[in-house]
Amino acid sequence: MSVTNIGKQFGGLVALKDVTADFQEGQITAIIGPNGAGKSTFFNILSGALKPSSGTLRFRGADMAGVPQHDYVHRGIARSYQITNIFPNLSVLENVRVAAQAFRSRMNIWADRSADRDSEDRASAMLASVGLSARAATPAKFLAHGQQRALEIAIALVADPALLLLDEPTAGMGPEETREMVALIEKLAAQRTILLVEHKMKMILGLSDRVLVLHHGQLLADGTPTEIQANSEVRRVYLGQNDGYA
Ligand SMILES: Nc1ncnc2c1ncn2[C@@H]1O[C@H](COP(=O)(O)OP(=O)(O)OP(=O)(O)O)[C@@H](O)[C@H]1O
Ligand SMILES: [Mg+2]
Repeated sequence: MSVTNIGKQFGGLVALKDVTADFQEGQITAIIGPNGAGKSTFFNILSGALKPSSGTLRFRGADMAGVPQHDYVHRGIARSYQITNIFPNLSVLENVRVAAQAFRSRMNIWADRSADRDSEDRASAMLASVGLSARAATPAKFLAHGQQRALEIAIALVADPALLLLDEPTAGMGPEETREMVALIEKLAAQRTILLVEHKMKMILGLSDRVLVLHHGQLLADGTPTEIQANSEVRRVYLGQNDGYA
């Protein structure tokens, strides 16, 4: 994925300005920055949920400008959201199966009943890959918070995305759940490119190959965790005031 001079305005508000970056396949990139810096807006653009006001987006050589949002997932881009986004009364397996069915039926409008079986098998495989097989029959609302976030990732994996966007995957988690999520992200990264928005600095610095810092919608820095930690401008606007950094 490469983005060139991306800008996004909401009325008079400039949420992103001139953001240029190139994401290497197979890397984990963290996007950090203060509240309101434009991180989720950037994710919304990368996942096709919003069209940029200016600039270009290319994925695997293709210009994404005219591509409708629902085609992003079929081209290999999937995401999870900052806020938990599952069907609370459906079982864990059903949540993933519904997603698998929706994905398949878009691929093949003649999908028949044997496809239901395939969707269920696929959903089971996705649950296994995020460590939730033992909870398959449980209504999603009874999962612990960390398991709900893992379930959302299982849903995103249904499309077998080459690029997976995770918006604050450890939001609201304690140290133990955070460790489990980090292990899951590391495992998933073996087969795909991952971009994540996070606030937990220690976690980001340990997990990421690369860190982008957004500040007031602009790219303040782009480098390895070591470079970002040593960047005095980043320390001044962000790291210095971030509790999680200590
Ligand atoms: N749909 C929208 N309409 C109008 N303004 C928006 C919209 N989405 C975001 N904004 C504004 O754009 C700016 C960037 O918001 P964004 O949600 O991208 O920040 P963020 O870095 O994800 O913040 P946080 O860390 O709080 O999640 C903010 O000023 C926000 O109020
Ligand atoms: Mg956000």
